[in-house]
Amino acid sequence: MPNVENSLSRYQELVNYLQTCDHSYYGEAQPILSDMEYDRLYKELQSLEETHPEWIRSDSPTQRVGGKPLDEFQSISHSVPMMSLDNTYSKLEVSEFLSRIHKALGHSELSYIVEPKIDGVAISLRYEHGVLQQGLTRGDGQKGDDVTQNLKTIRSLPLKLRDPIPLLEVRGEVYFPRKAFESLNKTRQSQGEEPFANPRNAAAGSLKQLDPRIVSQRPLAIVLYSPGALQGVSCKNQKEWLDLLHQQGLPIPEKTWFCSSEKELLDSIDDLDRTRSQFAYDTDGAVLKINEWAIRDTLGSTAKAPRWAIAFKYASEQAISQLQSVSFQVGRTGKITPVAELTPTLLAGSTVSRATLHNFDEIKRKGIQIGDYVTIEKAGEVIPAVIGVVLEKRSGNELPINPPSLCPACQSTLQWEGLFLKCTSSSCEAQLKRKLLHFAHRNAMDIDGLGESLVEQLVDKKLVRDFTDLYQLTEENLTNLDRMGKKSTLNLLAAIEKSKTREFWRLLFGLGILHLGAESARTLVLHFKTMDQLLSVNREALLQIHEIGEVMATSTMDYFQNQENRERIEKLRTFGLNFGSESDSSGATTSTQLTGMTFVITGTLSRPRELIAEEIRLAGGKVSGSVSKKTSYLIAGESAGSKKTDAEKLGVKILTEEAFQQLLTNLH
Ligand code: IVH
Repeated sequence: MPNVENSLSRYQELVNYLQTCDHSYYGEAQPILSDMEYDRLYKELQSLEETHPEWIRSDSPTQRVGGKPLDEFQSISHSVPMMSLDNTYSKLEVSEFLSRIHKALGHSELSYIVEPKIDGVAISLRYEHGVLQQGLTRGDGQKGDDVTQNLKTIRSLPLKLRDPIPLLEVRGEVYFPRKAFESLNKTRQSQGEEPFANPRNAAAGSLKQLDPRIVSQRPLAIVLYSPGALQGVSCKNQKEWLDLLHQQGLPIPEKTWFCSSEKELLDSIDDLDRTRSQFAYDTDGAVLKINEWAIRDTLGSTAKAPRWAIAFKYASEQAISQLQSVSFQVGRTGKITPVAELTPTLLAGSTVSRATLHNFDEIKRKGIQIGDYVTIEKAGEVIPAVIGVVLEKRSGNELPINPPSLCPACQSTLQWEGLFLKCTSSSCEAQLKRKLLHFAHRNAMDIDGLGESLVEQLVDKKLVRDFTDLYQLTEENLTNLDRMGKKSTLNLLAAIEKSKTREFWRLLFGLGILHLGAESARTLVLHFKTMDQLLSVNREALLQIHEIGEVMATSTMDYFQNQENRERIEKLRTFGLNFGSESDSSGATTSTQLTGMTFVITGTLSRPRELIAEEIRLAGGKVSGSVSKKTSYLIAGESAGSKKTDAEKLGVKILTEEAFQQLLTNLH
């Protein structure tokens, strides 16, 4: 470094040099200067920035902890949805996966890559012209939280790439390095704080912090592997992609395997299993991917997951514990789930004292009794489950598990419905608590701060008798509750107020209509744009919608015909909730990206066809039912039939769903 000089060029030089030092230290574990020297240059940079705040570059090392604490994270749409992966525990299913691909492609020379399946928190980063502009959590796959400030604190993550690539979106996992995890928990315990159950929770908990200063004290790390939207990138396969990431200074998985046969793939899975304990992050499987991107495009995706990849999960950890008793949990719809109360037992890094027994049929099938020693298993993110009895450990004093006859929460008589016992009381408080949590869920009305302990208190203290009461809560109601200071009270009231303007489909989903998921709620709103249309809907009209079947039509009709529900809806209307609008299509505005283009949609896609059609219309395009010379593109999903043949004959361009999304993004 040249002599200190109070000039802009010195400033630029310092930023660039310290970036290089960060990369060598954090990215390659090869420091190029001493800590003392680094600190000296860093201080020089800081003082230059103090004198010349107008010079501050967003990629300056000082900007890693630049931001102020946020009130809440902003929710932002992913330019390309973040999908998940199909899972398997069986090598046989891996072979079947390969056969399916060979069959679909009609040829057999393929190259694959095996990557570690990193057990972290999924995120998506956006670099524009080489500068990190945005980092989102996965959220529901469509929209995530903007955690850019927190991600910037990750020292191994470059704020600037080597080259000014026009657009590079890259996805991966944030993780809490295993080594640092134990000392974090020790510190937490010594400060009287709850330890984190595992590194993944520590990473998730850290990313959720609204104050980046706290995050900067956590040694989070990151590893990147998947592409999002791209411009100016010419990779043809995963190998080139990972090489590119590496060249640009981005951390990639420390070991990957390129394979060209099934045998090599299966061997690599075993090899990874042997090596993975040495990685800095937890892994729970191997991800098998087709290497060539063009082939990926041809294969496309099913609902939620690509057809060109599969996750092979290593057998999850199991442990043995003793079943002390069985409690009964009441769900939102009154469904009763038996829950095993266990002797606290260490399993996959955390202490487990409860596990699901699913239903009474399962209990009978597995022959589980109270007092039994049972095998428990935790697979990925699902709650632990009891998988069987250790018969050799039976003493003979075990007792049968009897289904309850009364609801454990409200004591009303239970009824069998298929495999499940159900509480049918309309005033059951346990159901109400679950209903409120559903209403406030991030995929529904997204009321931040309305979590379990608060719902518990609101219902127990009779402050809330159904979700409409949320809109009448006052500051006095809330400040007297446990763990509710003035700030959290005001935040909650603001979050409730904000929920009034949420998109109409979210309210519809939040109502908790039986069988109506978030995706179906979106579909319904495309056809019935307002609450009033739904209040007078008839069965036939519902069944006209391709994605709505008998069961959903019946439950939707039942819901809207029920007098109590109608009264609740009227109450919500008086509070001014968004009941949709005739001219609006779930809040989206029209654009002209696809003006002049005609699309035909065919085959099975990851989303209801109507949603894709709506997206096309909103972007100014037309959707037609049959392929002709005028068709600009055919969007073809799984099992596409004659329309695909027609398109091929007429030379109409065929797009996979992914390629279509890419087209939309590129035109954006
Ligand atoms: S590929 C469309 N590769 O596992 C591409 N995912 O259980 C989908 N994950 O959602 C992701 N390591 O968050 C991919 N090497 C890896 C991965 C990986 C971890 C996560 C990812 C995904 C989840 C699915």
